[in-house]
Amino acid sequence: MSSSPRVIALVGFMGSGKSTIGAALAARLGLPFVDLDAALETSSGTSIRRWFETAGEPAFRLVERAELATVLDQLATGGEGGVLALGGGAWSDPANRALVAGHARTIWLDVPLDAVRARLPEGAGRPLYRDPAAIARLFAARQADYARADLRIDATEAVPAVVERIVAGLAARPGAQGGGA
Ligand code: S3P
Repeated sequence: MSSSPRVIALVGFMGSGKSTIGAALAARLGLPFVDLDAALETSSGTSIRRWFETAGEPAFRLVERAELATVLDQLATGGEGGVLALGGGAWSDPANRALVAGHARTIWLDVPLDAVRARLPEGAGRPLYRDPAAIARLFAARQADYARADLRIDATEAVPAVVERIVAGLAARPGAQGGGA
């Protein structure tokens, strides 16, 4: 095992449960939890929705990358490690993947599109959760990126069961890290 702090990054599509499962996993492991979107909203004083409305997606992606670098530095370099939930699009940026892969073990919370739709019937305010055809295209386009994570976990079950799957998956592959880019 590496002696660097333990950082676990959760990736996956909108509605895959990254924030909820991330918080539960962090509690289970006794580690801090950071939600990248929430950290960005706090540090910028602007909601994700407003970033998209006023500055547009390219500007959002730039601040998202900067926030990711800051958070990873805090968790991995300066801190005690932790569980980090990425926004659904953050992992599709190769620069972000390289950054995360250097600091964390990555876990893809895999859920089928039907489950996403059932969980987010109206998108719950997410700017990129639009009409069904657009969501299906985005979902399909991102699968290959998510598949680059170190571990794939079926995240369709209830939260405690998914957390235990992750803990077991990490234990079974203690050295797996560094895919990504
Ligand atoms: C996005 C997902 C959102 C948020 C933003 C963009 C995406 O996060 O980062 O709306 O590109 O899929 P969640 O995956 O937590 O919903």
